[in-house]
Amino acid sequence: MKRLMCASAVLAMLAVSAAPLFAGDAAAGKEVYKAQKCSMCHQIGGEGGKMGGALDSVGTKRDAEWLKKYIKDPKSVEAASKMKAYPGLSDKELDDLVAHLLTLKAEPKK
Ligand code: HEC
Repeated sequence: MKRLMCASAVLAMLAVSAAPLFAGDAAAGKEVYKAQKCSMCHQIGGEGGKMGGALDSVGTKRDAEWLKKYIKDPKSVEAASKMKAYPGLSDKELDDLVAHLLTLKAEPKK
């Protein structure tokens, strides 16, 4: 019995610590990306503006926490960033958007 309780405690902990990473819905995030017009400044698959650089491989170099913080307030992460801040996104929109970005794992073009 004791062992069983231990195992379920470990499982519960795993579930809690894994949750933030999988909270987002990437398909919904793609819509947030469109609605927020991120493509005015960013390219994905060769489509979009060039000012902010391509995001095709952003999922290989950034993690969820970094992305969330950055999108909400770029200057809090990189003081010289020229990107517009998005403090008005809801937690869900941000989670979804970040889930979408994390699926972008193309090989960086050299
Ligand atoms: C007005 C233009 C503009 C818009 C709109 C914009 N960005 Fe950016 N973004 C930039 C620029 C410029 C940078 C490069 C930051 C710098 O100046 O150092 C950047 C950087 C980023 C980065 C960091 C890339 C990296 O790995 O260094 C991410 C991620 C990003 N933008 C996501 C988004 C998302 C998501 C949206 C829509 C919610 C968005 N951006 C809208 C201009 C923009």
